[in-house]
Amino acid sequence: MKIAIGNDHVAVEMKNEISQYLESKGYEVVNVGTDSTERFNYPISGYKVAKLVVNKEVDYGILICGTGVGISLAANKVHGIRACVCSEPYTAKLSKQHNNSNIIAFGARVIGIETAKMIVDEWLKAEYEGGRHQLRIDMISEIEETQHLKAVDGE
Ligand code: RB5
Repeated sequence: MKIAIGNDHVAVEMKNEISQYLESKGYEVVNVGTDSTERFNYPISGYKVAKLVVNKEVDYGILICGTGVGISLAANKVHGIRACVCSEPYTAKLSKQHNNSNIIAFGARVIGIETAKMIVDEWLKAEYEGGRHQLRIDMISEIEETQHLKAVDGE
């Protein structure tokens, strides 16, 4: 399985540790984040990971910034992305089972490395359940597709 990982300047160390952890478990990791602690604007990596996911060049994406918020907001602007910020494994697992999340995000300033590993483990292990959840995912996609036109119409 191939996983894209992206980060900003505050999450370089956590990005490296998570990448090594995933590689030790046999995952292929594509790093598109910064490797420098010089100030780096998180939308750049959020967008890169999102594009790799929607273009199916990777199976899933992981995003890390200070809180996980900014970088996931950027990724969620790409059609087809469902990026979820999680600070604990339960939400991560349910975000896959119910929300079919294709990117997980977390904050290097919020959680420690062991929690981050647990989040990643639970999320990768979980499977989307489909069924009743699909209608809701379809509704989200519909909002995505029509919102621009509605905004133009002034609705
Ligand atoms: C950078 O200072 C910080 O704003 C960023 O890492 C992230 O937390 C934004 O959501």
